[in-house]
Amino acid sequence: EEPPAAMAVPQAGEPGLTLLSRIGAVDPSSLNDYRAHGGYTALRRAFALGPAGVIREVTDSGLVGRGGAAFPTGRKWQATASRPDHPHYLVCNADESEPGTFKDRVIMEGDPYALVEAMTIAAYATGAHQGYLYLRGEYPRSLARMEHALAQARARGLLGEDILGQGYSFDIEIRRGAGAYICGEETALFNSIEGYRGEPRSKPPFPVEKGLFGKPTVENNVETLVNVLPILTMGAPAYAAIGTARSTGPKLFCVSGSVERPGIYELPFGATLGELLELAGVRDGLRAVLLGGAAGGFVRPDEMDIPLTFEGTREAGTTLGSGVVMAFDDTVPLPRLLLRIAEFFRDESCGQCVPCRVGTVRQEEALHRIAERTGAAAADDIALLREVGRAMRDASICGLGQTAWNAVESAIDRLGAYE
Ligand code: NAI
Ligand code: SF4
Repeated sequence: EEPPAAMAVPQAGEPGLTLLSRIGAVDPSSLNDYRAHGGYTALRRAFALGPAGVIREVTDSGLVGRGGAAFPTGRKWQATASRPDHPHYLVCNADESEPGTFKDRVIMEGDPYALVEAMTIAAYATGAHQGYLYLRGEYPRSLARMEHALAQARARGLLGEDILGQGYSFDIEIRRGAGAYICGEETALFNSIEGYRGEPRSKPPFPVEKGLFGKPTVENNVETLVNVLPILTMGAPAYAAIGTARSTGPKLFCVSGSVERPGIYELPFGATLGELLELAGVRDGLRAVLLGGAAGGFVRPDEMDIPLTFEGTREAGTTLGSGVVMAFDDTVPLPRLLLRIAEFFRDESCGQCVPCRVGTVRQEEALHRIAERTGAAAADDIALLREVGRAMRDASICGLGQTAWNAVESAIDRLGAYE
């Protein structure tokens, strides 16, 4: 069934709205309108700079991955570009499934040609001629808009052979996910494209060396890729001047929960959590904020001065992740919420490795016991949760198992959830 239209996009960051500048202003079905709003100037600049020049710009911009892990994009691109074995592939991860994350959907629905252009630039810079857009199965509107944009770009010589007469060829194929959270993990995603079970591979080797079909692959999130457009149009120094020295550029935040105006907010890195929640209209009785989604952690209402940067959240002992900000007021029963998060991880574990397969079940069982209990939680259940959580974090193969205890741990330690 068709989901409701993407949430409203409040014009939060004026002046200087960069990533969202075209959303709502451009007709997402019209390539002409995209061009009239500055579309394809970045690709022209990319061709003028050449692949090495593009990678230099992206490196100098300080751009880091927006999927949640904040790995330097220029380093990733350089590592793939310098690999002698071919073909190289570009994979755009549009399988955003982190609970509370819906920023990539807004981009694909509202500005689909931006992603096509950005993918073309990334592929050109890294020597790829084939790209894959791995799209979350539950995003039918994104699929329709991206399919239309790809067809239009092909018809106008912006995909396919000899793009813009520059002798470079590149095309994009869409692959749809089928509802598994784990397929957003890059190597599980490769397996899924290749037709295998969506199970993560051990890293290293990293995808830059051995990725899709065993070949050097750049895998980037949708938001990461569209940042390349302003980097090339405004130049790396101007882009790097946005935000902070270690978290450069603009960031999309997905605000939901107990707020008056849920939606996507674009702000330069460095705004505080309190400033963002004020824009979204935080309701009375705020009890907790979940930063970074289910894989992230809770913070208290008295921690609103946490700067929304990768380094600031790390220093505060939490994480920015993909930009999820979920507010909960005191009408939300915390034990039920934590149990729901644990159910999610148990459900989504691919079952490949023991710490996660067994640990997510044990975690859910303990939380279930606690949620059913009327008095304070038994100390032995909390101790068990800590032990299981440590094992999952230390010994799981991939990020799912490694982070499955984050939210529960932060609720116990920061919120005093069971006191
Ligand atoms: P990671 O830290 O293992 O890797 C991040 C990226 O850097 C990957 O592309 C990896 O291949 C690359 N990389 C790391 N070290 C490298 C090296 N030495 N050389 C070359 N490349 C290297 O993190 P992972 O597991 O890819 O992502 C975890 C994050 O994903 C979490 O922080 C979480 O917030 C986020 N996440 C986001 C979701 C979403 O819907 N946006 C869903 C679930 C998790
Ligand atoms: Fe699968 Fe969990 Fe192991 Fe990741 S940590 S490979 S999701 S079982």
